[in-house]
Amino acid sequence: MASCLQIADDEKGHDLDLFCVPRHYESDLDKVIIPHGLIMDRTERLARDIIQDMGGHHIVALCVLKGGYKFFADLLDYIKVLNHNSDKSVPLTVDFIRVKSYCNDKSTNSVKVIGGDELSNLSGKNVLIVEDIVETGRTMQTLLSLLSECNPKMVKVVSLLVKRTPRSSGYRPDYIGFEVPDAFLVGYALDYNEYFRDLSHICILNDQAKEKYKV
Ligand code: IMP
Ligand code: MG
Repeated sequence: MASCLQIADDEKGHDLDLFCVPRHYESDLDKVIIPHGLIMDRTERLARDIIQDMGGHHIVALCVLKGGYKFFADLLDYIKVLNHNSDKSVPLTVDFIRVKSYCNDKSTNSVKVIGGDELSNLSGKNVLIVEDIVETGRTMQTLLSLLSECNPKMVKVVSLLVKRTPRSSGYRPDYIGFEVPDAFLVGYALDYNEYFRDLSHICILNDQAKEKYKV
């Protein structure tokens, strides 16, 4: 099973005052759970693990928008550094897809894939799906079954976060950054109804904020 950094259920996190948090979000957040620097350090290692396993062949990195865009950009930067500085290097191309399954803080039953036409270009390729967070696993399982219809040569999934939750289907990505408690997390491109993508650290949203930004 993929090893990852465990954030314990009783993790107290860090006071907001110790970090730079946008003023407009100060009253919406309880604690910083994963500071931006730690995300970057873990991402650097994920890049190394991925290149070690997939490095023999051309990789198509498929970004799951919108939540995956920060992790995607930073992960690819680290992969580029490895490509620049080692004897072995692999061509890397990118593709983007949008998947929507959330309304407020609840996973909805339907998973919408937007931009599915481009999926046919993945035939015969080594595909790395880059996702922000896996909760029930439904989004990723839907995407994987759609992708298998396009006959890619290889598919690996990297998710920055996996939530420890009884709602999980049991699905585990190939590479995982952090395993996190069953709370609603925002920041580093993870959103609540489109807010909080403009926050660098991963934080726990408080109940007041869930009401404030409800649609
Ligand atoms: P799943 O289908 O239940 O695994 O949910 C996966 C998707 O739900 C992720 O790609 C996110 O977009 C969203 N999601 C799940 N949990 C959270 C969270 O705590 N914060 C923000 N988005 C989340
Ligand atoms: Mg996502």
